Amino acid sequence: MKGVVLAGGLGTRLYPLTHVTNKHLLPVYDKPMIFYPIETLVRAGIKDVLLVTSGPHVGHFLGVLKNGKELGLDHLEYAYQEKPDGGIADALGLAEDFADGDNITVILGDNTTDSNISKAVSDFKKGAVVFLKKVNDPFRFGVAEFDKNDPKKVVGIEEKPKEPKSDYAVTGLYIYDKNVFSYIKKCNPNFAGRNQLEITEVNNYYLKDGELRWEELKGFWSDAGTFGSLFEASQFWASKQKTTGEL
Ligand code: DAU
Repeated sequence: MKGVVLAGGLGTRLYPLTHVTNKHLLPVYDKPMIFYPIETLVRAGIKDVLLVTSGPHVGHFLGVLKNGKELGLDHLEYAYQEKPDGGIADALGLAEDFADGDNITVILGDNTTDSNISKAVSDFKKGAVVFLKKVNDPFRFGVAEFDKNDPKKVVGIEEKPKEPKSDYAVTGLYIYDKNVFSYIKKCNPNFAGRNQLEITEVNNYYLKDGELRWEELKGFWSDAGTFGSLFEASQFWASKQKTTGEL
């Protein structure tokens, strides 16, 4: 399986920090943020990776990641998203040639987790898999709605709903088959009113076609794209190192 890390966007929620460098190169405790999603892929056995990025500091990535070997990758490619805030699905659309008809595991560059998704990756055959996590602030995320008569069945996903229908956030970790690229081409920038191509619309297309499955993500998960979540993610990784004696 190949992997795609999405690290575009402008990181406006982290101004003035993101005037200094790209959001995904800011520190989460003792490493640049982007190391965490790459390490999640490597842990799952994925070593052939495309990194999509954009914005005024793109050049900084090469100096930090180089050819990816230090992080355990066999191959690291870069793609440039021309509209830096075109949306997650817009960024993923740039991976079509790289995927070349294969299945792909996708992770957002500001997501950090200690979960191991290797089984989901090796079991994957077709359709899409999303990873859900129970959170206290679901309105910040894509949120799953479950069938009232069948609480394990997802019947819809809403992007940042004012009144979330569950506490289950859709994390920024996804596995897709090749159909993802035809769904992206159908995306409407007004889907969530932010003039972006939304990954939540893509997931709803899979759902409508009966091809969306979900798993609960075990362990710690957080995005790191706001001051609060960046701080919490750093605290988690610091305390994890402390308990494993590496601090
Ligand atoms: O963290 C999980 C959440 O991420 C999901 O629950 C939401 O459904 C999903 O829309 C997303 O929400 P955010 O509003 O937090 O996404 P954000 O705009 O912060 O973008 C997250 C990452 O996606 C960002 O770190 C880099 C990548 N991205 C984003 C945009 C808008 C791109 O590569 N290109 C883009 O144009």
